[in-house]
Amino acid sequence: MASAMLSITSPSTSASLSMHDSHKGKPHFGGSSLRFSKEKGNPFSSVRSSGRISMSLAVNISRFEGIPMAPPDPILGVSEAFRADSNEVKLNLGVGAYRTEDLQPYVLNVVKKAENLMLERGENKEYLPIEGLAAFNKATVELLLGADNPVIKQQRVATVQGLSGTGSLRLAAALIERYFPGAKVLISSPTWGNHKNIFNDARVPWSEYRYYDPKTVGLDFEGMIEDIKAAPEGSFVLLHGCAHNPTGIDPTPEQWEKIADVIQQKNHIPFFDVAYQGFASGSLDEDAASVRLFVARGMEVLVAQSYSKNLGLYAERIGAMNVVSSSPEAAARVKSQLKRLARPMYSNPPVHGARIVANVVGDPALFSEWKAEMEMMAGRIKNVRQKLFDSISSKDKSGKDWSFILKQIGMFSYTGLNKNQSDNMTNKWHVYMTKDGRISLAGLSLAKCEYLADAIIDSFHNVS
Ligand SMILES: Cc1ncc(COP(=O)(O)O)c(C=O)c1O
Repeated sequence: MASAMLSITSPSTSASLSMHDSHKGKPHFGGSSLRFSKEKGNPFSSVRSSGRISMSLAVNISRFEGIPMAPPDPILGVSEAFRADSNEVKLNLGVGAYRTEDLQPYVLNVVKKAENLMLERGENKEYLPIEGLAAFNKATVELLLGADNPVIKQQRVATVQGLSGTGSLRLAAALIERYFPGAKVLISSPTWGNHKNIFNDARVPWSEYRYYDPKTVGLDFEGMIEDIKAAPEGSFVLLHGCAHNPTGIDPTPEQWEKIADVIQQKNHIPFFDVAYQGFASGSLDEDAASVRLFVARGMEVLVAQSYSKNLGLYAERIGAMNVVSSSPEAAARVKSQLKRLARPMYSNPPVHGARIVANVVGDPALFSEWKAEMEMMAGRIKNVRQKLFDSISSKDKSGKDWSFILKQIGMFSYTGLNKNQSDNMTNKWHVYMTKDGRISLAGLSLAKCEYLADAIIDSFHNVS
């Protein structure tokens, strides 16, 4: 009876497999038949030895065989699919990145000016301290809370530069995991897709509070309050400072007061994610009003900030984590622990974006130019929102009320389209968007509003 031996060689090991007639044509790896040896031989050799055929194949067995393929990211995966589509009418409304009216990426003029300044000064590339650039940290907390906020003067805020919004959230999640073991983070349903990943990876338990009401395509305020009330005392409540992602639905100032009431009553800790300051309304102060309201009540508050959208610094990964504490001593301790957590994760943050922010905010002329550019960007999005609403309402004769589009704020609109309808938007109309029905108006031009209106009306009425 003939038997064959397959020697399978990988760069560091080779595996030998004895194969008898009964297994002919069906090598199976694993179990006792797979033997690894340290021998290294010519992978293409074939030798005959005492009734056995020994063949070596150039097949690498990876040590990573057990690692399954990860699914594409639900937001960034949309851009990949968009790039692969060759149809000219295609429209990418997936990722939340600002585009000009010509649908081109936009670098703010103030950013270019700040970068020129930095070049002229010939600044070096030495490491930053773990907590980041001091001038950035000062600028960012003042921008968030207002320069004359007493908590800053009282040194009650621990601010560390983070790797944009995501990295700052992740750092805070690590702090929660270490110093509030078992504490839950309450997140809105729905929320930005990465929130759950961040808390999962940090091993922080989370649950959802009601936020979106599909019947009104508006805020389920009663549900939100009930769920925050029902959560275990001392939970962290994650709130979007403004321009809620993905719904574009924000509480009113009166509703924010009530949310603060119940959080205070339940001894919860508010945790703000501020990714769109100045980008929602066009005003930095207006968009920070929710955070400032909580701070003015004397509450301890966590705030993650991002400059991806409002300064268009997406790839520079610049943001901050702020912890407003009730004493300067607590703030100092919190800051020391944030640094301790950051050190083994990424050592210290990148300098380029930090210098841009510090230069723009620290220079009165650049600062007012930035505010004007932000108003321009927020204004373009508002115009597109209005035009989309006008186009849909004039084309759709069904009597459906589309006014929710105008009640939303920021770069996103939740269309109310379900997964099948969103699939139709992509498959039939080449409109790329997330499967939850969210579109980024920042990726839309006035010229494309009519086309998008047709796509939404078709998907809404003709697909269930
Ligand atoms: C709600 C929210 N938080 C945080 C972020 C973080 O973005 P980045 O890490 O680019 O600052 C985003 C980006 O889309 C967001 O929408």
